[in-house]
Amino acid sequence: MKPNLLSWEETLFRDQDVFDLNYVPEQFDYRDDQTQSLVFAIRPGIKGGKILDTVCRGPPGTGKTTSVKKIFESLRETTQAILPIHVNCRIDASEYAVFTRIYTSLTKRGPPPSGTSVKQLIDMIARFVEQEQIQPLVCLDDANYLIYENQFNKVLYPLLRMHEVFPGINFGLIIIISDPGIDLQNSLEVRVQSTFHPEIIQYPPYSAREIAGILNERVKQGLYPHVLPTELLDVIIDHVMKHGDVRLGLDLIKRSVLYAEKAARKSVTEDDIQKAVDASRDMHLEMLIGSLSDDECLVLKIAAELFSDETSPTTKEIMEALPAKGPKLTRISEIFKRLDRLRLIDLQYSNQGGGRRRFVHLHEDRALVLTILARREQAAD
Ligand SMILES: Nc1ncnc2c1ncn2[C@@H]1O[C@H](COP(=O)(O)OP(=O)(O)OP(=O)(O)O)[C@@H](O)[C@H]1O
Ligand SMILES: [Mg+2]
Repeated sequence: MKPNLLSWEETLFRDQDVFDLNYVPEQFDYRDDQTQSLVFAIRPGIKGGKILDTVCRGPPGTGKTTSVKKIFESLRETTQAILPIHVNCRIDASEYAVFTRIYTSLTKRGPPPSGTSVKQLIDMIARFVEQEQIQPLVCLDDANYLIYENQFNKVLYPLLRMHEVFPGINFGLIIIISDPGIDLQNSLEVRVQSTFHPEIIQYPPYSAREIAGILNERVKQGLYPHVLPTELLDVIIDHVMKHGDVRLGLDLIKRSVLYAEKAARKSVTEDDIQKAVDASRDMHLEMLIGSLSDDECLVLKIAAELFSDETSPTTKEIMEALPAKGPKLTRISEIFKRLDRLRLIDLQYSNQGGGRRRFVHLHEDRALVLTILARREQAAD
C-alpha cells in the first residue's frame, strides 16, 4: 500500500458528531451577555416566582437555539421547580401542534386521544401543571413560522392568560425569532399586547474573528491534527462571512474532510473545499425551499418560469399567471416580501413607463430552483 493513503478503517475525524447541526457544543463563547439576560429572566422561577418573558432576536446561525439549549441543560441538572420545554415551530407550526408538543413534553404520556380539542388540551396541560406544582418554561423556537401561519396570537394568548383561569399557574416564555424582517409589535393582537411585555435580547451576527474562534475550537475537537491546514480554514471562514451563518462553516468542514477521505488523502485540499461549497449551496437552497409553504412555492415557481436572462416579470404578471385556486391577493404581497427577505427573489421598484411597477428578479439559479421545486412536488404526490 502507498504510505500516504488511508486504509478503509482509517478516518480523519476524531469525532464527526461535533459537526452535526444539532450538536450542542461544550464551548460556547461570545454569547455571555445574552446568556446572562436569559438567566436573569429565568432566575425568579427557581424560587417559585414568575419567570420573565423574553424574545431572542437575531439572524440565522447566531447561537439563539444553542444558548437556550445550554440553559435548559443546566436547569434540568439544578432544579425541579422549572420544567423546560423546547418547541420547534418549524415542525409544530400550528396552535394544535404546539399545545400537543407542550402536553407530551410535560406529561411524557404520548399524544392526547384523537378528537381532543385545543381547549381540552389546554385544560389538561393546566391541570397537570397545577398538580405537579411546577413552572413550565416554554421556548417557542423559530416562532416566526407561527407568525407566517397566523397562529402566533392563538398560541400566546392562552399561555399568557392561563393564571386567570387557573390561579397560581404560570408559564415562562422564551420566543426565538430569526427573521429580521418581522415587526413583532405589529404581529401582536391588542389582547396579547396588553399582557406580553418581554425583554428583547439581541443576537448580532458574529465577526470574522468570532467565527474563526468557533470553527477553530470545533476543528480541534473533531479532526486529527493537520487534516485541515490553517490557511484552508481561512478560506472556509471567508465563505462563512459572506453568509454570516456558522452552520455553513461546520457543513463545509465536514464535507471537505469527507471528500479528502473519499480520495484517500490525509488532509483537505482547496479543491475539496470548492466541491463542498458547490454542494453546500445546493443544500442551502433545498432547505430554504423546503421551509416554504405550498402557496409560497407556487409564487416562486411562476416567478422562475417567467424569469429569463433578458426579462424579469412584474408582480402583476406573476399574479395574473397564478391559478384561480392560488393564494388570495392580500396574502400574495406578503409572500413576495417573504421570498425577498429569504433572498430567493429581489423585488425592484420602477417608475419607468408611467405607474409604479415591481419587478421580480430571481436571486438563485433558475434551473436549480425549478428542479428543487419539481422534486418537492414529486415528494408531496
Ligand atoms: N458561540 C458559539 N460557539 C460555538 N458554536 C456555536 C456558537 N454559536 C453558534 N454555534 C453553532 O452554530 C450552529 C448554529 O447555532 P444556533 O442553532 O444556535 O443558531 P440560531 O441562532 O438558533 O440559528 P437559526 O435562527 O437559524 O435557528 C450550531 O451548530 C451551534 O453549535
Ligand atoms: Mg435556531
